[in-house]
Amino acid sequence: MKKIELFTKIFLDGADPQESKEAKNLMGFLDGQTTNPTLLTKNPEIQKTIEKGEKFPEEELYTFYKKVINGISGVTAGPVSVEVYADKFTKAEEMLKQAREMVKWIPNAYIKLPITNEGLKAANLAVREGIPVNMTLCFSQEQAAAVYAATKGTKRPVFISPFVGRLDDREENGMDLVKNILHMYEKGDGHVFPLAASVRSLNHFLFTIKLSCPSVTVPFKVIKEWVDKEFILPDQNFVYQSENLASIPYEDISLDKNWQSYDIHHSLTDTGLEKFSIDWKAVIK
Ligand code: E4P
Repeated sequence: MKKIELFTKIFLDGADPQESKEAKNLMGFLDGQTTNPTLLTKNPEIQKTIEKGEKFPEEELYTFYKKVINGISGVTAGPVSVEVYADKFTKAEEMLKQAREMVKWIPNAYIKLPITNEGLKAANLAVREGIPVNMTLCFSQEQAAAVYAATKGTKRPVFISPFVGRLDDREENGMDLVKNILHMYEKGDGHVFPLAASVRSLNHFLFTIKLSCPSVTVPFKVIKEWVDKEFILPDQNFVYQSENLASIPYEDISLDKNWQSYDIHHSLTDTGLEKFSIDWKAVIK
């Protein structure tokens, strides 16, 4: 086992406590974990049930999610993200109700809320209640500015998850978004911490380290690859290979506006929310 000290905190992206244990054994540490509805449905126990042609009553799925989160919390004392169920009709009050419940599951829970109008409204209220949040499905700098403004005054750190791989999927350089948010937040008070998500490759992972992004969440296979490559780190000469991806230019956005006044709409946030909802519902009776 090897313990290395990095500025960037390394989280596992997955919903299987067994995998968390393996990741921790491989690296010698695990700084935290993120889950989401899609990842939960990929949990081996859920998959077994589905393969038998069975599904879960909704309440049982929540009970199972709670069990998984408790298992993960037994492996890492760092932040563990738990995502609320939300679709385009879900109101802030309903998200908040779930957040209040989920935050009681474990002492190190961070509640994932989507960056939609209702999600931001829920976050604005949640932080006032002391509920730690991770704002998810971030695809634009303007969304990151809105998260900053909506959670200003929080006593707990706030995470924001820019989704790198899903921007790459449509040929935009997702790492530019991470870079731009980090740059924009330099003029802020430091209460929001970018957590690079939708990380698909060692290349993504190494670049987040090079950028000194505070945290990154990584699928097990990338952790394994990193360990196999003996914890390789980006040196002075590291160049991120963005292939043919279109760059995302930096925008000069003020962090001091009213959070409701930012233009937060992004089509990938809509499709991401829909996909989480479809995957969640697919395993419910
Ligand atoms: C974690 O917070 C995200 O939900 C996850 O990284 C999304 O990854 P994907 O785009 O590969 O589904």
